[in-house]
Amino acid sequence: MPLPLFSRRFLIFPFLASIALYRLDTFDPALLPSDALNYSTTTLPPLSNDRFLTGAELIGVGLLNSPEDIAYHRAAGLIYTGCVDGWVKRVKVTESVNDSLVEDWVNTGGRPLGIAFGLHGEVIVADAYKGLLNISGDGKNTELLTDEADGVKFKLTDAVAVADNGVLYFTDASYKYNMRHFAFDILEGKPHGRLMSFDPVTRATRVLLKDLYFANGVSMSPDQTHLVFCETPMRRCSKYYINEERVEVFIQGLPGYPDNIRYDGEGHYWIAMPSGVTVLWKLAFRYPFLRKITGLAAKYGFEPMIFMENAGVLEVDLDGKPMALFHDRKHSHMTTGVKIGRYLYCGSLLHSHIVRLDLLKYPAQKRL
Ligand SMILES: *[C@@H]1O[C@H](CO)[C@@H](O)[C@H](O)[C@H]1NC(C)=O
Ligand SMILES: *[C@@H]1O[C@H](CO)[C@@H](O)[C@H](O)[C@H]1NC(C)=O
Ligand SMILES: *[C@@H]1O[C@H](CO)[C@@H](O)[C@H](O)[C@H]1NC(C)=O
Repeated sequence: MPLPLFSRRFLIFPFLASIALYRLDTFDPALLPSDALNYSTTTLPPLSNDRFLTGAELIGVGLLNSPEDIAYHRAAGLIYTGCVDGWVKRVKVTESVNDSLVEDWVNTGGRPLGIAFGLHGEVIVADAYKGLLNISGDGKNTELLTDEADGVKFKLTDAVAVADNGVLYFTDASYKYNMRHFAFDILEGKPHGRLMSFDPVTRATRVLLKDLYFANGVSMSPDQTHLVFCETPMRRCSKYYINEERVEVFIQGLPGYPDNIRYDGEGHYWIAMPSGVTVLWKLAFRYPFLRKITGLAAKYGFEPMIFMENAGVLEVDLDGKPMALFHDRKHSHMTTGVKIGRYLYCGSLLHSHIVRLDLLKYPAQKRL
C-alpha cells in the first residue's frame, strides 16, 4: 500500500503551498522597458570568432579565484585582478603562459571587482562590499574613499575608470542587493544602479545618474569628453557627456548581457558579456512571473545564474559600431576583456584562471 503522503490526493498540498508562497512573497519583479526586449541583429559585427576557447590559453590556473576585472600596468608588465577571496592579485605577463607568476598582493577583506590606476601610482578598486578603495604605497595602505552618496549607501560597487584630471568615475550596480544576492537584482528588473564620480581634491561623491539597470562596466573616452557605461539586463551601453551632463545611447540590443567595458588605447572598446542571449533569459525578461518563480526557487537554494552560455567579448569602435565578436557557446561568466598587445586577456566570475587568446593566430573572420 502506498504511503498516503505520496497518493495523488496529497500532492495537492505542496501545490497549494506553492501558490500561497507565490502570492504572499514580496519579491515582485517588474516589466523591463521595451527596448530591453528588442532582439534586432543590428549589433552583430561583420567579423567573428565563434570558437573562442579553441587555442585559448589559461593563466594562473587554480591561483586566481574568479578574477572579475583586469587592469594592466604597462610599465611594470603586471596584470592586477580582483578575486572572490578578497585578494587583489598581480600576474607577471610573459610570452609563455606557463612562465606567468601569480602574486597575492593586497587583501581588501571584501570582494574587489573593478580595478584602475590612479595618477600617483595608486590602485583604485571598486570593492563590491566596501565601496571605492585607494590602495597606495605599493600595497601598504588601503583607504576607503567613499561608500555612499546622497544619503544612500552603496551595496554593490562594481567598476571604476580614472580621468586624466584624476577624477574617479564608478558604478554601484545596486543599492538594494549585494554581491551575494546580485541575481535577485537582475531578476527583479528594477533600476537600483548609479553612475557616480569622486573628486580626490574636494573628496566629494556626486551622483551623475541614478535609476540605472544594474550599472556595470564604465570606461572613459580617449578624448575625455564622456564615459561609456553598461547596463546588464538592458543589453545596452550608454554615453554620459561629462560637461553637458547628457546621456546618449552608445550601443543597444547587444548579443549578450554586458559586464565590463575596456578601452584598448587603439580606438576600440571591448565589451565583455558573461552570457549571450539565451531562450530562457529572453523568456524570463519578457515575463516577470518567470523571474518571480526563479527568484523564489533561488531563495531555497536554486542557483539562477546557471543558464548562461555563449559568453564573449564584443569589439566596437569609438562610435559604438560593432567590429568583431569573440565568443564560444561552451563558455560562460566572462566578465572583462582587455587587449594587451596581440592578446586578449579575459576575466571571469566563475573560473579560477584568466583566459588569453592570441588575436593574430585566432582572429575574427568574415561571417559565412
Ligand atoms: C530595435 O533596435 C534597433 C537597433 O537598435 C532599432 O533600429 C529598432 O528601431 C528597434 N525597434 C524597436 C521596435 O524599438
Ligand atoms: C605549458 O604547460 C602545459 C602543461 O604542463 C603543457 O602542456 C604546455 O605544452 C606548456 N606550454 C608551453 C608553451 O610550454
Ligand atoms: C591615494 O592615496 C595616496 C596616498 O595617500 C594619495 O597620494 C593619492 O592621491 C590618493 N588617490 C586618490 C584618488 O585619492
